[in-house]
Amino acid sequence: MVAKAETQNAKIVVTPPGPKARELLGKDADIISGSVVRWYPLVAESGTGCVVKDVDGNQFIDFNSGLVCLAVGHSHPRVVKAIKDQAEKLIHYSWTDFYYKPIIDLADQLTKITPGSFAKKVFFCNSGAEANEAAMKMARWHTRKPLFLAYTGSFHGRSFATMALTASKPVQRRHFFPLLPEVTHVPYPYCYRCPFGLKYPECNMWCVDFIEEEVLKKYHAPEDTAAMFVEPIQGEGGYVVPPDDYFQRLKKILDKYEILTVDDEIQSGMGRTGKWCALEHWGVTPDIVSTAKALASGLPIGAAIAKEELMDWEGGSHANTFGGNPVACSAALQVIDIIRDEKLMENATRQGAYLMKRLKEMQQKYPVIGDVRGKGLMVGAEFVKDPDTKEPAPEELQDVMNKCFKRGLAIITAGKSTMRFAPPLIITREILDEGLEIFEGAVKEVAAQLR
Ligand SMILES: Cc1ncc(COP(=O)(O)O)c(C=O)c1O
Repeated sequence: MVAKAETQNAKIVVTPPGPKARELLGKDADIISGSVVRWYPLVAESGTGCVVKDVDGNQFIDFNSGLVCLAVGHSHPRVVKAIKDQAEKLIHYSWTDFYYKPIIDLADQLTKITPGSFAKKVFFCNSGAEANEAAMKMARWHTRKPLFLAYTGSFHGRSFATMALTASKPVQRRHFFPLLPEVTHVPYPYCYRCPFGLKYPECNMWCVDFIEEEVLKKYHAPEDTAAMFVEPIQGEGGYVVPPDDYFQRLKKILDKYEILTVDDEIQSGMGRTGKWCALEHWGVTPDIVSTAKALASGLPIGAAIAKEELMDWEGGSHANTFGGNPVACSAALQVIDIIRDEKLMENATRQGAYLMKRLKEMQQKYPVIGDVRGKGLMVGAEFVKDPDTKEPAPEELQDVMNKCFKRGLAIITAGKSTMRFAPPLIITREILDEGLEIFEGAVKEVAAQLR
């Protein structure tokens, strides 16, 4: 039995969307591009810590972290101060043409918090897609090889080049062909739904050997393959965690054929899983790391951090106007310090273990939860109509998500039928419990309808 939260963080004063929200939703529908998908009508007005408030005064516990960007919570006072101070001094002075200190300081920090003790260099940009696109261009430029490997179910961005890596939903590519042609996708190690129909560990991880035996040796010449893009925990694809020895084995194959490993930490990085980069859990050192999202607590920024020798591309070969903006860099420097000072990776590990425990207890009670997996505060609960057939339950999942929203918990899904738990790393046990109570209440109702 979990103690009731003393203070209430979730507060619904009018069923959302309330009148002010409805007015804005109407205007939004008229003038905002229809290419984006909104999960539910949350019209955010302000945020503090782990709570986001809408325009009608409703308060939601934020298990989304503004799409996994708010590791240190909404408007952390130190981030706000850093933004204000920097904005008063210097807002912009194009890094591709001139110099300023915050970008150098941030590059220095990024080389320290990414795996590998070798010399590194940093390329700055404005988003996750741009960070991956930089990694693609850098890998091609350095290796002079044209091909890439990526995973089915992966998400690496929606720019024209990264769209060719991304393979988690048909809508991301539909009517945009032809894409960059040189990307081959291999199955992600998704043990709950093994693409080969095998069982771990008896499978002996055929999914790794498949890459060598069926792809590299048969048609995807390694001497033409520049890099493989890897999400250490698949994010948009459904919060999928590979088995423990997977990445070590993969890295051996990639090294054997001199294929670069690009570690996409855009969703899983910045301490979310209890380490700066999720790939560290498996003791694997990538050649290039891409980061964005939580780096500057919601200000636009992205970065590709690579072994020094990979950044031998010539001046003018890749650049942009706004990358590593001084205000975003100052915010990011604070984010890194706060994660260290407030011991947020330790908190992510501790609260994440508790979150997994609670979800596993719920799994015992409600067969609609088929699988619970994750690391730190990157946790997924996969919904199924029946735990034996594992038939996905996307409608039930939507129903739970919408009920949560109406009751003051902002949470979204990932993949076909997985609920994603990605609260700010500052979350306390009390707020976690309050959010989980709302979640469990919704699951209970939906599970009862399934019987
Ligand atoms: C793993 C991963 N890579 C890349 C991206 C793309 O980032 P952005 O939306 O900033 O372009 C995302 C966004 O969700 C992501 O989760």
